[in-house]
Amino acid sequence: MNEKELIETAKSLVSNDKGILAMDESNPTCNKRFAALGIQQTEEARRAYREMIVTTPGLSKSISGAILYDETIRQHLTNGTPFIKAVTNAGIIPGIKVDGGAKEMAGHPGEKISEGLDGLRDRLKEYAQLGLRFAKWRAVIAMGKDIPSVACIEANAHALARYAALCQEAGLVPIVEPEVIMEGDHTMQRCFEVTEQVLKMVFNQLYKQGVMLEGMLLKPNMVLPGLACPHQESVEGVADATVKCFLRVVPAAVQGITFLSGGQSPELAAARLNAMNVRFKSHLPWALAFSFARAIQQPAMEIWQGKETNVPQAQKALFDQALCNWEARRGEYNPKMEMK
Ligand code: 13P
Repeated sequence: MNEKELIETAKSLVSNDKGILAMDESNPTCNKRFAALGIQQTEEARRAYREMIVTTPGLSKSISGAILYDETIRQHLTNGTPFIKAVTNAGIIPGIKVDGGAKEMAGHPGEKISEGLDGLRDRLKEYAQLGLRFAKWRAVIAMGKDIPSVACIEANAHALARYAALCQEAGLVPIVEPEVIMEGDHTMQRCFEVTEQVLKMVFNQLYKQGVMLEGMLLKPNMVLPGLACPHQESVEGVADATVKCFLRVVPAAVQGITFLSGGQSPELAAARLNAMNVRFKSHLPWALAFSFARAIQQPAMEIWQGKETNVPQAQKALFDQALCNWEARRGEYNPKMEMK
């Protein structure tokens, strides 16, 4: 393991107030988002959409790294440039999603376990050779009556730690993503308790597997009330609860926390990240950054509509939304920026 290189990559991904763009939707997820907007669900449409993203002028002002999907890294821009090269040429560090998706967990109705450890060592070796510098593995923790179970949290934490150890062995920075999901009517307090429990187990497993904390990033959910919870907290309330939770359980050696957006609107995700940085940035051990998919891409995808003629406008929306989150890292985000 090249410790120095891993630490440098992890630091670069959260430096200069930048964040990560997640553009690694699996084919079924990408198709689902396209279908909702009436966009064709073909390999070529996914390629063209991602070409629109990575050729956005000036994207590296706010984006440090992009998480790609396996299909994309084997595709090319219209001008023949491979995607990994296009991303690197744009001044953005290329990464890759490596989990095989969250599948029903045996004996645990409503709960999921992420697959993909078998053969992972060989896949990571290939990814490193192709020029990818970091990886992502997402675990899904569903909320509901009597769930999550300890069995589900432990199994996912163990898989995350084994994945992270394999990544570091291969020279890739692991992004460890345990997502407590927003669907449900649970309170913010319940999300706090579950997130705390999950992160405790995740860091316990990372320690057991010998993962170097300085050479990884954590990609968690914010501490939020469920989407169907009747009481929705203020932006400041979410910021306070989220930071309080992480101060309890995230070791100071971790370089950065790069939040997922999880179905929040782009405006709320940016406002909450902004509030955390306004209130706490100067006295936190780790960077509070972003690794959003929907909260950066959604406006651009809606404008794009699968049409070449819409590319410049879609790129402007993508650039602007990414910049809003760069401002949020600086504690200088203003919702009026969304109106440009
Ligand atoms: P969202 O920001 O849309 O939640 O996606 C982040 C991600 O990468 C999920 O794995």
